[in-house]
Amino acid sequence: MKKMILMALSAALVLGISACANKTAESAVQMDEQELNSKNAPIVTEEELGLRRENLYTEQTTAPVRAEYTSAAPGSAKRFERSYENAPPLIPHSVDGLLPIKKGNNACLGCHMPDVAKSVGATPIPKTHFMDFRTQKMLDHLAEQRFNCSQCHVPQANVPTLVKNTFEPDFRRADEKSKSNLIDVLNEGVK
Ligand code: HEC
Ligand code: HEC
Repeated sequence: MKKMILMALSAALVLGISACANKTAESAVQMDEQELNSKNAPIVTEEELGLRRENLYTEQTTAPVRAEYTSAAPGSAKRFERSYENAPPLIPHSVDGLLPIKKGNNACLGCHMPDVAKSVGATPIPKTHFMDFRTQKMLDHLAEQRFNCSQCHVPQANVPTLVKNTFEPDFRRADEKSKSNLIDVLNEGVK
């Protein structure tokens, strides 16, 4: 019986505290509004609360960006320069019919596994993808974490950039623009 009374009491206390907190929050909002109005600051309505110059609720004039992906079939595409040192390379060829990757169906492996890649002119999957990063041991198969290629490798589309990007990669070696050497530099600066 005593226990129940205690529980009821503590529940009341918790409720009381949160009600109090709500009240303070409410009055803080009211104060903000008053302050804003008094300074004649421009009021942004809920409908305008977006980066687009458009009513957020109707979005009548908003159309998705038309993205032109490369249509060149694997084997006839031109590789992209790497975005930065050891960046995952962008997919330069069409991925029509290759995605989505499924548990029993990963077409990428058919051309990119090291034992076949050379014969079809594809870049072989690098050693890092055959390594268990927890134990730092090489595996005799592709690491499970690397199975879903399109999680990291994406095709590039020709679209206007909405925000200008001033990033410029700084390659330490010229050949890093077209291949990776992550397996050799993994512990650089650590060991
Ligand atoms: C029919 C063979 C084939 C298949 C299937 C294939 N690729 Fe390729 N891939 C190539 C070839 C060949 C190249 C070299 C560029 C070219 O000639 O198109 C390439 C290039 C790439 C590159 C660029 C490598 C670099 O060095 O810049 C990436 C990344 C890539 N493919 C990822 C994928 C992914 C992910 C899939 C599955 C969705 C896939 N590929 C399926 C043959 C293939
Ligand atoms: C977790 C992210 C991730 C996944 C998943 C992944 N990759 Fe990579 N991949 C990378 C990164 C990062 C690099 C560059 C650094 C390196 O070599 O590890 C890379 C490099 C590559 C390269 C270039 C190798 C070279 O010598 O220049 C190829 C080809 C490639 N990946 C193919 C694949 C394929 C095919 C799959 C699916 C079976 C895949 N990757 C899955 C992140 C990933």
